[in-house]
Amino acid sequence: MKNVIHGRSQVARSAKIEAPVRLERFSKVADHASMGRMSYLSELSTLARRCQLGRYCSVARFVEIGPIEHPVDYLSSHPFQYSKHHFANQEAWESFERCEFDEKPGAIVGNDVWIGLNAVILRGVTVGHGAIVGAGAVVTKDVPPYAIVVGNPAKILRYRFDAETIQRLLDVAWWDMELEELSGLPFNDIEETLRMMEQAQAHQ
Ligand SMILES: CC(C)(COP(=O)(O)OP(=O)(O)OC[C@H]1O[C@@H](n2cnc3c(N)ncnc32)[C@H](O)[C@@H]1OP(=O)(O)O)[C@@H](O)C(=O)NCCC(=O)NCCS
Repeated sequence: MKNVIHGRSQVARSAKIEAPVRLERFSKVADHASMGRMSYLSELSTLARRCQLGRYCSVARFVEIGPIEHPVDYLSSHPFQYSKHHFANQEAWESFERCEFDEKPGAIVGNDVWIGLNAVILRGVTVGHGAIVGAGAVVTKDVPPYAIVVGNPAKILRYRFDAETIQRLLDVAWWDMELEELSGLPFNDIEETLRMMEQAQAHQ
């Protein structure tokens, strides 16, 4: 299957895209970011530098994954101290002496994660497989697999399934299966779907 990439979205050359993905208007995949197959970014959502988004992730509109941070303990929080961007093409700006800036590591989002409208996932955070990030959440800490988190700062509301079912889902890792192997499964019956996937994997 082919990527569906809107003409007004942006993908950095150094980004790694596993087809097929869908990128809607004004969405952006920044430098060295990676995005797994079947995932989509809705309008105006950004996967920032060096961030990872797994397979089968649903990202709503106005979501920021791993927005760039400024220093909090330098003379200033302004980027003039380390970056030539902003106010470019001016002589004084070109010759200005700057220091280094150690960027925080990117955010890592697992497979099958749904991120609601207007959510922000801060850099350095890992969101586990199967998690759901509620609309408007600001995720400041790691999110366990299959947790539903809401609020600012985001807190666990509940888990999608019981602990045993979550472990079985993580073991079966259905996102690594071929799409045709998933066709026709009774998706709305988690117990039966898991049983069928486990049986199919046992016969491989
Ligand atoms: C989190 C979400 C998935 C619902 O999960 P749920 O487990 O069904 O939650 P419920 O609706 O039963 O609500 C449970 C509690 O969480 C609260 N809550 C639900 N969503 C919330 C959110 N996004 N932020 C803050 N609190 C939220 C509810 O007010 C309720 O609080 P209470 O127990 O004090 O009454 C959903 O609310 C959400 O945010 N969906 C995203 C929608 C979206 O952005 N869609 C874009 C298109 S992809």
